[in-house]
Amino acid sequence: MSAPPPPMSLLAELTHRCPLQCPYCSNPLQLEPRTQELSTQDWKRVLSEAAEMGVLQVHFSGGEPMARPDLPELVAHAAKAGLYSNLITSGVLLHAKNLQELANSGLDHIQLSFQDSEAESADHIAHMKGAHAKKLEAAQLIKAEGLPLTLNFVIHRQNCERVPTMLALAEQLGARRVEIAHTQYYGWGLLNRNALLPSRAQVEDTEKVVAEARVRLAGRMSIDFVTPDYYADRPKPCMGGWGQRFLNVSPAGNVLPCHAAESIPGIQMPSVAEGSLANIWENAPLFRLFRGTDWMPEPCQSCAFKEDDWGGCRCQALALAGDATATDPVCHRAPDHDLIAQAITERPETPPPFHYRRYGNDKV
Ligand code: FES
Repeated sequence: MSAPPPPMSLLAELTHRCPLQCPYCSNPLQLEPRTQELSTQDWKRVLSEAAEMGVLQVHFSGGEPMARPDLPELVAHAAKAGLYSNLITSGVLLHAKNLQELANSGLDHIQLSFQDSEAESADHIAHMKGAHAKKLEAAQLIKAEGLPLTLNFVIHRQNCERVPTMLALAEQLGARRVEIAHTQYYGWGLLNRNALLPSRAQVEDTEKVVAEARVRLAGRMSIDFVTPDYYADRPKPCMGGWGQRFLNVSPAGNVLPCHAAESIPGIQMPSVAEGSLANIWENAPLFRLFRGTDWMPEPCQSCAFKEDDWGGCRCQALALAGDATATDPVCHRAPDHDLIAQAITERPETPPPFHYRRYGNDKV
């Protein structure tokens, strides 16, 4: 398959450092150390190359991107290059001064994550005392600064009953948009699956609550909702199709089609040190590996939905079936679909303790 048009957005994972220890962290199990992080100049070149190849927006992410003191400089560079910038942050390092610097640098939007609507549970999930209170302060500062605000809640069996109060909190804090996203189960999420996986009844309840809220809040606040694919018949089109819509750059400069691609063994990870983003997007073997439909095994190859779901999630196929080329086990036609049924059946009545993601102590 020839390369598709350039991606709309770049996910710039500036660092894996983070004061929070969430058990569903989307970063890889092996976190990249500070000493391997790209320099300010490297990131500026990456941002310029992204703009030149046609990328429209950059999401500054992590870890916690505010752990990088050069963040305002990078935001200013993105603005100069004509990129719309979004900061994905936990908010715990945000205060009036650095927020002002970011706003003055041209930051366009902030997405603030919350672990729950109740402080005690939120701090338990983040494994950081006082984190929730800091996030509430951050949200108020962001609103006072006049920056558009999206709130993000990752939900699971230990907090999904509180989706109504999460939505109320988002409304109260003046968010324009709220994301209610069920945990996805690879990386840290898979490691903590028994502690996080909701029951079918819990999933159905959250769907109902969100559907009602969408009607009630129409025109005032948008709600994005991500369901857990363990309870779906068909897999999700992960990343909108491999190498088709998204570009990630890891803290050390690896260029990836998704945040978990580094888990695929035996693959040479393209690096920003070796070539331009445009060349990597078009030609790197990693990006061509699962692009399009030619790579698909049966039953995907003859499936009518193969250009809807693009074969689901390669990293999930690897994590569950041990083979990144396998049919995503979430699909009801997959040879390994019983692994999903088994995970749901074996879900313990009482959730086990979290295995926290600790930067600098990420042995699993
Ligand atoms: Fe890598 Fe889904 S997370 S393909």
